[in-house]
Amino acid sequence: MSKCTLPEENVRPRSLKDFIGQEDLRSNLDVFIRAATERERSLDHTLFYGNPGLGKTTLARIMASELGVNMVSTSGPVMERSGDLAAILTNLERGDILFIDEIHRMPATVEEVLYPAMEDFQIDLVIGSGPGARTVKLDLEPFTLVGATTRLGLLTSPLRDRFGCIFRIEFYSPEELGCIVERAAKIIDVTVEPDGALAIGRRARGTPRIANRLLRRVRDYALVHGDGVVTKEIAESSLERLEVDQYGLDSMDRKILSLMVENFNGGPVGLKTIAAACAEEVRTIEDIYEPYLIQCGFLKRTPRGRVATAKAYRHLKVRMEDEDQLRLL
Ligand SMILES: Nc1ncnc2c1ncn2[C@@H]1O[C@H](COP(=O)(O)OP(=O)(O)OP(=O)(O)O)[C@@H](O)[C@H]1O
Ligand SMILES: [Mg+2]
Repeated sequence: MSKCTLPEENVRPRSLKDFIGQEDLRSNLDVFIRAATERERSLDHTLFYGNPGLGKTTLARIMASELGVNMVSTSGPVMERSGDLAAILTNLERGDILFIDEIHRMPATVEEVLYPAMEDFQIDLVIGSGPGARTVKLDLEPFTLVGATTRLGLLTSPLRDRFGCIFRIEFYSPEELGCIVERAAKIIDVTVEPDGALAIGRRARGTPRIANRLLRRVRDYALVHGDGVVTKEIAESSLERLEVDQYGLDSMDRKILSLMVENFNGGPVGLKTIAAACAEEVRTIEDIYEPYLIQCGFLKRTPRGRVATAKAYRHLKVRMEDEDQLRLL
């Protein structure tokens, strides 16, 4: 039986050297990894936060492979009871990495088990129930917790404070994304001209996962409409057909902006209203669409709600007629 791997897995960088961009983060992490190896101690608990697809899981795996340890993965929402986490913790071996994805979605009762585990490598187990119940302390092997979250603000402060290193992962520049596309193209065996890679990088919303996805789509166009080589022209025309514009906005981004401009006079409008009008979940808008629209300067958060900026009007080619709107921006 052939082993089925997700396309994303083939191109995932496996070492810090292959990880492109995030220079500061990379050099800090490199120092911490080397120091931990030299001292033969487990690395400090580390938290990565940033938008989806920017490389949090990738970095956790790289840490495990650079340290030469096992990585045990779980995620906040799958651990429903404290026993679920206790079972994982007691099975960890010395130096292992425990990766908890979406750590902000961990139930409070589970989170409480994590506090002594992170601080003293111990857990408190409750044996029995009712008046006869007693607590025993159980020693754990030293381990490194690596947490990933798209929403740092939703982490409780006791949990956040127990991480020794907290790294923010930023959006990537078009040039960095161009390099990521060139690297991925070699792995999936596609010929990409540097200009073609950059054209994809420019429209990838600052996100490596999107860059790699667009590369696969553009490759299909290059095969059907060209000679298989991804040139700048092929990249641009195929992305145009995929409704990805020159800022990397897709049809949903444009729908959000045009709804705000046309139906709500540019705002201020609440997130829930935007989500309902787009028939999309509030969390999806908040985690996936909004950060990039803010980063590009198309949308602003104000205490009264979201506001479309003058740049959004220009991009949608809509005239800002209301003077009050202009004053708001
Ligand atoms: N710096 C990078 N250099 C090269 N490729 C990268 C880089 N960062 C991410 N990637 C690619 O992007 C893909 C998505 O990254 P990853 O799964 O680590 O994102 P994530 O932050 O964990 O996302 P999510 O929040 O959705 O879990 C990876 O498969 C990898 O191929
Ligand atoms: Mg991930």
